[in-house]
Amino acid sequence: MNSLRILVTGGTGFIGSHTCVELINEGHEVIILDNLCNSKPEVCDSIKKITGRDLTFYKGDLLNISSIESIFDEHDIDCVIHFAGLKAVGESVEKPIEYYHNNITGTLNLCEVMKKHNCKKIIFSSSATVYGDPEIIPITEDCKKGVCTNPYGWTKSMIEQILTDLHTSDEDWSVILLRYFNPLGAHESGLIGDNPNGIPNNLLPYVMKVALGQLPKLGVFGDDYDTPDGTGVRDYIHVVDLAKGHVKALDKLMSDSDVNIYNLGTGIGYSVLDVIKAFEKANDVHIPYEIKPRRAGDISTCYADSSKATAELGWKAEYDLEKMCKDSWNFAKKCY
Ligand code: NAD
Ligand code: UD1
Repeated sequence: MNSLRILVTGGTGFIGSHTCVELINEGHEVIILDNLCNSKPEVCDSIKKITGRDLTFYKGDLLNISSIESIFDEHDIDCVIHFAGLKAVGESVEKPIEYYHNNITGTLNLCEVMKKHNCKKIIFSSSATVYGDPEIIPITEDCKKGVCTNPYGWTKSMIEQILTDLHTSDEDWSVILLRYFNPLGAHESGLIGDNPNGIPNNLLPYVMKVALGQLPKLGVFGDDYDTPDGTGVRDYIHVVDLAKGHVKALDKLMSDSDVNIYNLGTGIGYSVLDVIKAFEKANDVHIPYEIKPRRAGDISTCYADSSKATAELGWKAEYDLEKMCKDSWNFAKKCY
């Protein structure tokens, strides 16, 4: 496809940075807008080092509409990939106003400026969390959206609705909602990856801090779920596969003015104990753990049917859990 000029909000973050690498490798021009509240400016240097190509970076906040305006004034943007948002589930319960304001107002500001500049093509980072406790496993896109258990999840669900309403109001809007399952891994260079601040909430970052001796042991949240070994089952997907899903979605975005929804997962469910064992085997380390009570808001099982993305976008996840564990560890040893 032709080279596109793409505004990537949140492009220095975990998934955004990996997506920028894949976009640049495909010959697209990348312009990043990020306020760096959860990422570092050095990520831009790492992206340049990996790709051998340049990019444009703006430190700016989606809550400040003039910082979005100035980018659209300076560049003829073809489309937007919108990653920017706050994503810590527990924090969203404590700070609902901040989460709704940042994620919803930020998106409304972005859409307002896009509309003004007649740029009506957007890919949005949604989440499997919008399904709530899913009705069917594996989850297809036809599965009804459910009740979210926290404000973060509701922002994803609401932004999906806002973008859908925008298309209803004006059919020129082309909207792709990508519902990610559980991203793991890192670029194999080890230059970019996921490095959460403080004590991690998500499974693999916690496992890695235990492996590094920075935390004593992992708590496994519940062993009495209705799953093969009693621990929660999830669809873990390599972040590079996820990033490639965005590149594949561009063709559809540019050619089809509609609202299209895709699950991005592997279609395979692994339990918490499976992940611990895979990580130990892939990296020859020991992970001490203890069984703890269930975590509030957790569901038993969640994995995707991603056949729609395969059929319509020509995308399929390629990397397995071993590769996710190896690449995550390669990054953590350098950067944690
Ligand atoms: P991340 O925190 O690493 O990246 C998000 C980026 O957005 C950060 O660099 C942050 O500085 C920036 N940002 C936040 N608010 C901003 C604002 N108001 N203006 C400008 N920049 C702002 O998160 P990630 O894991 O890369 O996730 C990217 C997107 O994917 C998020 O929207 C997240 O909710 C969604 N998502 C993530 C996961 C996951 O497990 N990581 C799963 C499903 C969906
Ligand atoms: C969580 C969020 C989800 C978000 C996703 C990615 C909740 C309820 N859901 O998904 O909205 O999109 O992260 O950011 O928080 N586990 C342990 N011990 C730990 C950590 C996790 O046993 O220390 C277990 C969990 O119970 C779960 C699995 O590991 O069964 C995966 O947990 P996690 O990585 O937090 O992801 P999700 O809960 O699936």
